[in-house]
Amino acid sequence: MSRVTYRGQTVIITGASSGIGASFARSLAARGSNLILVARRVDRLEALADELEKTHGITATAIALDLTSPTAGPDLKASVDALGLRATSLINNAGFGTFGDFIDEDPARLEQEIAVDISAPVQLSSAFLPDIIAADGGFLINVASMAAYMPSPRMAVYGASKAFVLSFTESLWAELRGSGVTAFALSPGATSTEFNAVVGTDDATAGAKMRAPDQVVATALAHLESRNPGPSVIDGATNRLSTKLIRLMGRRSTVTMMYRMTDPTRRSNSKVAAKK
Ligand SMILES: NC(=O)c1ccc[n+]([C@@H]2O[C@H](COP(=O)([O-])OP(=O)(O)OC[C@H]3O[C@@H](n4cnc5c(N)ncnc54)[C@H](OP(=O)(O)O)[C@@H]3O)[C@@H](O)[C@H]2O)c1
Repeated sequence: MSRVTYRGQTVIITGASSGIGASFARSLAARGSNLILVARRVDRLEALADELEKTHGITATAIALDLTSPTAGPDLKASVDALGLRATSLINNAGFGTFGDFIDEDPARLEQEIAVDISAPVQLSSAFLPDIIAADGGFLINVASMAAYMPSPRMAVYGASKAFVLSFTESLWAELRGSGVTAFALSPGATSTEFNAVVGTDDATAGAKMRAPDQVVATALAHLESRNPGPSVIDGATNRLSTKLIRLMGRRSTVTMMYRMTDPTRRSNSKVAAKK
């Protein structure tokens, strides 16, 4: 029997309009959880909510929210309260990346990246953890990345954001032990979602074997259901092995390798203009 009782949960999933978030929604609905789905593309959320309610007899509520808002956490809490809902679990999944040398990046876009990838998970954790702790038996999953385990030249802000998420969440794991809440960071590697389309290039994942969102979610739920879940989990055996090797390589060699691997001029079909 699963360590986790999914039925009766009300799980907030950010970034549920596509990719890993939508897969979390489908998997949790199939297990009997009620859902609060959050993203900007509310038409997609509503279609998914309708489908999951009909298929699984759960309640799914769509909330449109731009997580770049500096008040995203309190705003979402106010919306959830106004609907008479109470979250028992939270999955901070929404996120996006930017690709290119830092010096060439649009500072406004980087601010949005930091807001969605760092500030939103912190704010939402702060806003909802009191209810999640009170519910007893809930979970907090923050989606980090393989990028959290290594420097990410040409995705400097993204990599640093995910390193933040990993560190932040592992600390919460320790603080929440004994609270009845299972907290951990989930780190996918290259996964076939809309992520690269939003980045605008697949240079960062060139040559990587893509995992499916359902595989990432299966890893997360297996970890959640395990007898004594640790503070973080990496999806995929190859990705787990890579992080071990990177630790052995040392930081200078790792960042040099990553810089070479993500060089757009190495690829004839790169969408990023070759640097002179
Ligand atoms: N795919 C990969 O290779 C990969 C690898 C490692 C980690 N990750 C992480 O996995 C998580 C899920 O990404 P994905 O791969 O599933 O990508 P995706 O298909 O692009 O999904 C990203 C989700 O985030 C939401 N989002 C983005 N900006 C938002 C904003 N300002 N406000 C509200 N929601 C916003 C999007 O919804 P709207 O556009 O509708 O707002 C969408 O639902 C992210 O944290 C990502 O960093 C992905």
